[in-house]
Amino acid sequence: MALLIRNGEVVTVGARVQADVYVENETITRIGRDLQTPPNAEIIDATGKLVFPGFIDPHVHIYLPFMATFAKDTHETGSIAALIGGTTTYIEMSCPNRNDDALEGYQLWKSKAEGKSACDYAFHMSVTKFVKETESQLREIVADGTASFKIFLAYKNFFGVDDGEMYQTLELAKRLGVIVTAHCENAELVARLQQKLLAEGKTGPEWHEPSRPESVEAEGTGRFATFLETTGATGYVVHLSCEKALHAALEARLRGVNIHVESVLPHLLLDKSYAERPGVEGMKHVMSPPLRAKQNQAVLWNALALGSIDTVGTDHCPFDTEQKLLGKDSFVNIPNGIPGIEDRVNLLYTHGVKCGRLDLDRLVDAGSTRAAKLFGLFPRKGTIAVGSDADLVVYDTSYRGVVSAKSQHVNNDYNGFEGMEIEGRPSIVTVRGKVQVRDGKFIGERGRGKMLKREPAHF
Ligand code: URP
Ligand code: ZN
Ligand code: ZN
Repeated sequence: MALLIRNGEVVTVGARVQADVYVENETITRIGRDLQTPPNAEIIDATGKLVFPGFIDPHVHIYLPFMATFAKDTHETGSIAALIGGTTTYIEMSCPNRNDDALEGYQLWKSKAEGKSACDYAFHMSVTKFVKETESQLREIVADGTASFKIFLAYKNFFGVDDGEMYQTLELAKRLGVIVTAHCENAELVARLQQKLLAEGKTGPEWHEPSRPESVEAEGTGRFATFLETTGATGYVVHLSCEKALHAALEARLRGVNIHVESVLPHLLLDKSYAERPGVEGMKHVMSPPLRAKQNQAVLWNALALGSIDTVGTDHCPFDTEQKLLGKDSFVNIPNGIPGIEDRVNLLYTHGVKCGRLDLDRLVDAGSTRAAKLFGLFPRKGTIAVGSDADLVVYDTSYRGVVSAKSQHVNNDYNGFEGMEIEGRPSIVTVRGKVQVRDGKFIGERGRGKMLKREPAHF
């Protein structure tokens, strides 16, 4: 079936042109003015609208056993929420813990998505220990098309790796040409600070941030950078939250270290006062690294505008009110995570582009193209070009709405961005040429999503 998206303003990195985009089967085959189409082509009038490449969320959790419970979304719910928000591909963290077999874990994560996701997807493979079979297992996983790893310097005894394991992972990644994403907080310091605060009777969610201060994240970021420098591997700091950690990453980049940086929606838009709200309202805003002092936000936005922060993900990780209450007696038991998969693009457009913090070029780059390039998906994903997958977002900048749990598709009973206004939303979202979303409604094919196989590219 052919599809013509007519007369939109096509926005890609480095170009904005008034054009038609013609799609045959799953692929963009022509871009130009006044394209002629066969009589049976589906035609979408994009006059007055922007046409973006499908957005890519490089950091989501869908299936996640964590902190004595499970994140709430499935690939059915998470992918529909993603698509309604303009995200046509997400990269999920495959996260077996230290006690699990890595390969069995990888197969389990794949089985949760297969035939279920409505958008395309890929995985970052978490390395949560390094034992004798790890190298051969990781080689098999890379050969299967998962060409990025994840390590956690935090979450001691669960997901966390020690320095020796980090070294071995990076050294192997360098040989395999695989990029390594990393959650950078010093696990030992977090554990000590948690014990100290609890011993002082400080148990509420407002103590989560003081248990993982900025210096602890900066140390983790700097250490990861030093290990990258030593091994020559390429790294990507996930959910970097504060100025101190940014300095650690950028100093390393200036030394020639191959280090990239992701920020996530909560750190750009929410500050630690949200987690200081009494009771469960505060718990809803507990994630790691924590929401920070507000002055960090301007620094993150500026670095994002400059391209010093490469990408914006969500770290989508939904736990509902009942689950958050697992931590009612101690902040260390509050399941960490804030959902955002559905709201990322609209909030970035509203608080970034409309507020003059980002230009459209950076919106597309940080929200799609840069992730595609870093994670081996470009130019199949991340751009609008002849030969690329027809993942397209026709964006209506005249739409006005408010983010709310009442209208969301994420499987959760709250929304961390509740009440924020949005000025724009996708009116059409396609996945490989098929219209999956029209004006905020999923009208497409469930289970259409494919796992994207990726080649190593970071030698
Ligand atoms: O708080 C967070 N970020 N939860 C999900 C797990 C992780 O660290 O990414
Ligand atoms: Zn993390
Ligand atoms: Zn995460």
